[in-house]
Parts: sequence; C-alpha cells; structure tokens
Amino acid sequence: MSSITLVGITKSYDGPAVIADLDLHVDTGTVFGLLGPSGCGKTTTLKMIAGLLEPDAGDIRFDGASVLALPPEKRRIGMVFQQPLLFPHLNVEQNVGFGLRMQGMRPRDARPRVRDCLAMVQLERFAERFPHQLSGGQQQRVALARAVVTDPVVLLLDEPLSNLDSRLREQMRQLIRGVQERLKITTIFVSHDQEEASELSDRMAVMFDGRLAQSGRPYDLFMRPESTAVARFLGSTNLLEGHVRAPGLLDTPIGPIAVSCAHGVEAGRTVTVSVRWEHLAIRPVSAGEPPNSFCGIVRDVVFGPTRIRYTVEINDVEIIVVAPTDLEYPRNEPVVVEIPARHVRLLQEAHASATLPG
Ligand SMILES: Nc1ncnc2c1ncn2[C@@H]1O[C@H](COP(=O)(O)OP(=O)(O)OP(=O)(O)O)[C@@H](O)[C@H]1O
Ligand SMILES: [Mg+2]
Repeated sequence: MSSITLVGITKSYDGPAVIADLDLHVDTGTVFGLLGPSGCGKTTTLKMIAGLLEPDAGDIRFDGASVLALPPEKRRIGMVFQQPLLFPHLNVEQNVGFGLRMQGMRPRDARPRVRDCLAMVQLERFAERFPHQLSGGQQQRVALARAVVTDPVVLLLDEPLSNLDSRLREQMRQLIRGVQERLKITTIFVSHDQEEASELSDRMAVMFDGRLAQSGRPYDLFMRPESTAVARFLGSTNLLEGHVRAPGLLDTPIGPIAVSCAHGVEAGRTVTVSVRWEHLAIRPVSAGEPPNSFCGIVRDVVFGPTRIRYTVEINDVEIIVVAPTDLEYPRNEPVVVEIPARHVRLLQEAHASATLPG
C-alpha cells in the first residue's frame, strides 16, 4: 500500500487549465473522498494518477517516489469507473482474472486469487455467468473484484455507485468499506453524493475548478466549512449575510444575532455566516424566549421518517430547520426559531480571507 502525493499538478486539454497547481496527499491505507460539481476535474485527476493522462506540470508520487515515468500497468493501480466496462464475451471469473492473465500468471495460480476476490464481493455463485446475465450492482461488484485482484497499492473509484438504486448503493458502500478495510488499499473515491463520500472517507476534499477548496475529516467539512462556496456545495445549511455591529453581534436580515465567532472581526464589516439546519431549534411561541430566538411563520413542512424539515419565514427570509419527529408544527402557524450562538459559523470570502480569523 502506498501513500499518494500530488505536487503542483497542472493540466489543460486544449484551452485553459482544468487542474491548476493541485496539491493533494492521501495517507497509506486510508480512503480519500473527492467531491465537487460536474466538470471540476475529478476524473482528470484520477486519470493522471492512473497514468492514463499526463500532467502538464507537477509530480505524482507513491510513497514519496515519482511515478510519472511509469506506464499505467506499472503503477499497480486498480480502478473502477461509473460504468463497469466488463468484457461481454468473458464470464465473471475470466473478467476478474483478466489482469492476472495479462501479467502472465498461470491459470492454476490465478484461480484461487480470483475465487478469493469473488468471495469478497459475494459473487462466488456467479463465476460462470456472463455480464449480460448480471444486474447493475453485480456488474459493479465484478468490476471491484477485477480492480483488486492484481493486488494494487492504490485503488481509484470514479463514481462507481452512481448508476445503482439507493438500496444497492448502500450495500455496495458497505462492501467497498469491507474490501478496503481488509486489503488496506489506499483509495481515492470520487462521488457526487456527499453522504456516500462522508461515510466511506477518512478524509475528504471539495474541489472547484481544478483546485481543492477545503480538505479535512468529513466532520470538519460539514461542520466547519471555511468558505461560502464549500458551505453552499455541501448544503443543508442556512447562509446569512450580516454586518458586524460589535464583537460577537451581527445585524442580519432576520434580526440581531449573538455569535461566538467573529470576535476578531472589526465592526462595520459585512460577513457571511452559516448555521446548519439541524443546529436550529423550533418551538411553540411562548413568553420569555431565550436569546437568539426569532418569530416566524411555518411555510413548508417536509416529513421524513427520522426528521421533519421546516421552512420558516422570518422577516421575509426563509430559514430551514430540521427537527426531531416528536412534535409537528403546522403550516402557516407562528413558531419560534432559536439559533444557538455557538453553532453560527463565520465563512471566509476569497477577497476577505486576509483579514478574517480562520
Ligand atoms: N478529453 C477532453 N478534452 C477536452 N476537455 C476535456 C476532456 N475531458 C474533460 N475535459 C474537460 O475538463 C474539465 C474537467 O473534466 P472532468 O471529467 O475531470 O470533470 P469531473 O469533475 O470528473 O466531472 P463529472 O462529475 O461530470 O464526471 C471539464 O470542463 C471537461 O469538459
Ligand atoms: Mg468525472
């Protein structure tokens, strides 16, 4: 198993750079989730790591040693794409064993390894079937077995679950986690789905326009987004613009909010803050509200099995609150929304990053 390090990677196809001076490090044996909007450069990054594309500048290192001079087949990489891309004329066992055959391994030696990988993805019974006789999820499991059979040191997964239905995705997620934990292969997992990426990843990053906007533990990205762009991309959060009236006090469109952040920001500055939906509290209107409580009207109620999502209009601003299911507040009725000061997160704008505390 190898660590993966990208240093100053730049790549353009025929126009401007789609990857710009990208630095990235993945520790040995861990899973790194790469998230970002369509076209931000995720697949391009994986292809360069795999050796399918050459960077214009920068270096790619496995365990500190450059692999740029190595062709793809020498990099010891397993890769799974969005489409399983199986050989239609080969059965499951032959598909999985293909890489070993290419390496010149005798069938007698390859067989136990192929069988072992098929067992890992729970497909032993399907060894004789052809791809067209398999479901989408089974085909993806074959692709995963095929990717790990050659004992790679790096596993690259490019949205391998996006064509599967939600139940299958969940099963595949557990399977990938199981395979990764057993083999301890250093893995980069690309996804559009933040829940999926956060469940599978030890660390993750959000990429915009070929640059990493923020990386860290999934918890840090969701709970401590640093910029408006990351907060907006990861979603499930309310963004509010406010003026700093005094240390720890913001004037916002819904009213003055006391915050634990922004103490170091000078009065008069405009800032953007983020408060996650589930960190707000909703309660009936009553006398003697706690600080940071705002009266509003419930405009929308979306019921989910484990929580209810309310859209509450406060001073013409829509605030979303996710609350437990034990109480239900009806539409068009007044409620109180409390914003706990400690959950208000100050976001950095690109142009203001020099003066805002981190
Ligand atoms: N072969 C190519 N020639 C020219 N431009 C390309 C080529 N492949 C990708 N691009 C461009 O490079 C950018 C990054 O593409 P890439 O496939 O890496 O995005 P991505 O993050 O994987 O997107 P998605 O989530 O949609 O798969 C996009 O703007 C895309 O249009
Ligand atoms: Mg892609």
